[in-house]
Amino acid sequence: MKDSARWDERYQTATASAEPARILLENSHLLPQQGRVLDLACGLGTNSLFLAEQGLHVSAWDFSSVAIGKLGAVAETCGLFVTAEVRDVVAQPPEPQSFDAIVVIRFLERSLIPHLIAALSPGGVIFYQTFVLEALDKTIGPKDPLFRLAQNELLELFSPLNLLFYREDGRVGDISRGVRNEAMLVARKSPDADSG
Ligand SMILES: C[S@@+](CC[C@H](N)C(=O)[O-])C[C@H]1O[C@@H](n2cnc3c(N)ncnc32)[C@H](O)[C@@H]1O
Repeated sequence: MKDSARWDERYQTATASAEPARILLENSHLLPQQGRVLDLACGLGTNSLFLAEQGLHVSAWDFSSVAIGKLGAVAETCGLFVTAEVRDVVAQPPEPQSFDAIVVIRFLERSLIPHLIAALSPGGVIFYQTFVLEALDKTIGPKDPLFRLAQNELLELFSPLNLLFYREDGRVGDISRGVRNEAMLVARKSPDADSG
């Protein structure tokens, strides 16, 4: 079975998360005040809808036609404008300098990272949140360790950008509190960057 078909099957019955991703809620002040934003591998699109509510022009891409269909319907009901597109983002990554912000939540495809950096406009911002290898609860997130981040890996992957926010609690201190299963990064492309 194709990967997209597996996700389609899941999304037949899955319901969208009630809340946008933590990285967006805690760092919404770092979003551009206007412009084009991409929610890459958006799933049912809770984050896309949140971004549209901020007045941004949202493109939401996912290879699951079921998820994109459901997102389109919810956006219409809510009167929010989201350009939701069925798209394999690995086969068709975003064009260079095409977005002022890119949001990636719970999706990891390392070969895409240089394309994401290139796809930011000068001064553009990336928001990235996904699962770590060192998670406390491995019942959520991918079973294959390849799809989990090593320690500090987001920092390395986005080292060409200027860091605005990073969090990775690991297992340090009081593990009954904190963010223990995911790492989060917000970083900005130099406003003086002229390409890539
Ligand atoms: C764990 S879900 C996360 C969805 C969403 N970002 C969220 O946080 O709710 C991972 C998503 O990646 C999508 N996906 C996986 N590989 C993809 C690809 N090559 N192109 C586009 N979407 C892909 C799946 O369809 C799924 O919706």
